[in-house]
Amino acid sequence: MCGIVGYIGVQQAYPILIKGLHRLEYRGYDSAGVSMINEEGTLSVFKEKGKVAALEASVEGKDISGTIGIAHTRWATHGEPNAKNAHPHYSQSKNLSLVHNGIIENYKTLRTKLEEKGFEFQSDTDTEVLVQLIEYQEEKDNCDLYTAVQRSLKIVEGAYAIAVLDKRNPDVLIAARKSSPLIIGVGQNNHENNGQAEFFLGSDATPIIEYTNQVVYLKDEEIAYMDRDGHLRITNLANVEQTPDMQTLQMNLDELEKGGFPHFMLKEIYEQPNALRNCIRGRLSIEEKDIKLSGIIDYREKFLSARRIIICACGTSWHSALIGKYFIEEAAQIPVEVEYASEFRYRNPVITANDIVIAVSQSGETADTLAAIQLAKEKGAFIYGICNVIGSSIARATDTGTYLHVGPEIGVASTKAFTGQVTALFMLGLAIAKEKRTLSDDMFHMLIDELLMIPDKMQWTLEHNKDVEKFSQIFTYAKNFIYLGRGYNYPVALEGALKLKEISYIHAEGYPAAEMKHGPIALIDEEMPVVVIAPKKGMYDKVVSNIQEIKSRKGKIISVVTEGDTTVRDMSDYCFEIPDTRDCYVPLLAAIPLQLMSYYVAVAKGRNVDQPRNLAKSVTVE
Ligand code: AGP
Ligand code: GLU
Repeated sequence: MCGIVGYIGVQQAYPILIKGLHRLEYRGYDSAGVSMINEEGTLSVFKEKGKVAALEASVEGKDISGTIGIAHTRWATHGEPNAKNAHPHYSQSKNLSLVHNGIIENYKTLRTKLEEKGFEFQSDTDTEVLVQLIEYQEEKDNCDLYTAVQRSLKIVEGAYAIAVLDKRNPDVLIAARKSSPLIIGVGQNNHENNGQAEFFLGSDATPIIEYTNQVVYLKDEEIAYMDRDGHLRITNLANVEQTPDMQTLQMNLDELEKGGFPHFMLKEIYEQPNALRNCIRGRLSIEEKDIKLSGIIDYREKFLSARRIIICACGTSWHSALIGKYFIEEAAQIPVEVEYASEFRYRNPVITANDIVIAVSQSGETADTLAAIQLAKEKGAFIYGICNVIGSSIARATDTGTYLHVGPEIGVASTKAFTGQVTALFMLGLAIAKEKRTLSDDMFHMLIDELLMIPDKMQWTLEHNKDVEKFSQIFTYAKNFIYLGRGYNYPVALEGALKLKEISYIHAEGYPAAEMKHGPIALIDEEMPVVVIAPKKGMYDKVVSNIQEIKSRKGKIISVVTEGDTTVRDMSDYCFEIPDTRDCYVPLLAAIPLQLMSYYVAVAKGRNVDQPRNLAKSVTVE
């Protein structure tokens, strides 16, 4: 759970590394560091607690020359976030420096053994064991660095993406991965053999895209050797040569900038209408009133014979999955179970070849979700992925799937990926229903028509709730919030509460509205804001009664209502309006004012909205 950047070539490495770290800072941001081999052949390491900016300040005036380097932004797993534990780490002799993303699970045993052999450790991290082990292997076997890395990686257990520098060989960069992502960017000039060869490394494509769109996704247990002559050699741990699978990146750099918004989160909230247009583009057709999802068309029989669907996910993606369950059961008449991936992977779930397991993950790198699908795969299930990040580990581990196409999500609090996931699950439900003929033609066409109208209705919602900023400031006093919804809106209540917790640090709970009377109603007093999703649909009358119960206990009501509804408006202290839509699609609209409210409460409280404390964008550790 961190960002790795690397460079070897003809340009000065430091600016490329720092720029890359800024792009990757969303992945982890408790400390940062760089290592370069400068023009005199010195292997330097500069590292600092805090953000990349703190590293830059600390490096001022130092020798940052050199055309080869590695860099890291950390999200600590072992050892407190301080300068000593920041990466890169030196080996004992200071001949090597290494950055690492992941966890070395057997680090304690290895550290004890290495200490017995005279190695002295400078940090409390699991990572340092790896760089010391490589040096030890090199000396013991009298082998080259590549072989030493290969042999060391056979000994370590756990997850890693690493990059290694060797002071004695400033013309070579070595990298490897297992269960943590690592991408190699291949310089535009490498094939011309004119001494201009360059290679870039990144935990994702953002540090690379500016320089080249030619990339190789390193696979599990692969080690890469890159040199200044443009040689790229990849082998596995058994030293079997692998053919690099060169791909062309489709990502646009503009998508990675804030586009004039103060935070990525706000930009991403406002991007939702367009993001959903991209998500449904080429899949839903107005003219034919039809849906085409290649993942379903190619595996039609699997879906027709499926006994049940299990959806595994974490956090916000788990909330999307819950909405997906309601819809798929209703539309396609297949039983659906929703599981926390972290729970699923550690029990012994009953799974058969007639089950379809769906992984929902924005990043496609969440360790628990990845492990859950690997378990389901071993048990013979068919695996479907709903991911945003193209080429991510989960996307590649699944049999087939649907990409969200909502663009990169940088803010740690998920917004457009949530509505994208919900939309992808709706499309999945509709595509299965079409194959199984579980919906009447009229109903099928109507659901497609209405889904096509959601992006415009989202636009309306964004335009008509502009005063949320002013209103949100009133609620910064609150220490607790309750969110309520029924049916399709119960997961929206959970998601609204998670969003507020994550970025404002206010405690919030989501409940099915009818559960209030079984306990949580005891919390209500005049200080307690209660957010109720109360569209004029489905169980409207029952929700109105639930609101009444809260009002009688002096709770403050913040409601999300259908445009023009005066009944709930009159009962509310504050009210957000959304356009009318089908019951099932309300979450796509109701989520928006709740995202905006969390955002503005957090801003009013002075929080770091895009990088809230203790969180990271992709949770690639358990
Ligand atoms: C969302 O706001 C959260 N930061 C978090 O719950 C997230 O949804 C979760 O970690 C799952 O991530 P994924 O979708 O990338 O798998
Ligand atoms: N486990 C390593 C550490 O705590 C790497 C963490 C990361 O991936 O940022 O330093």
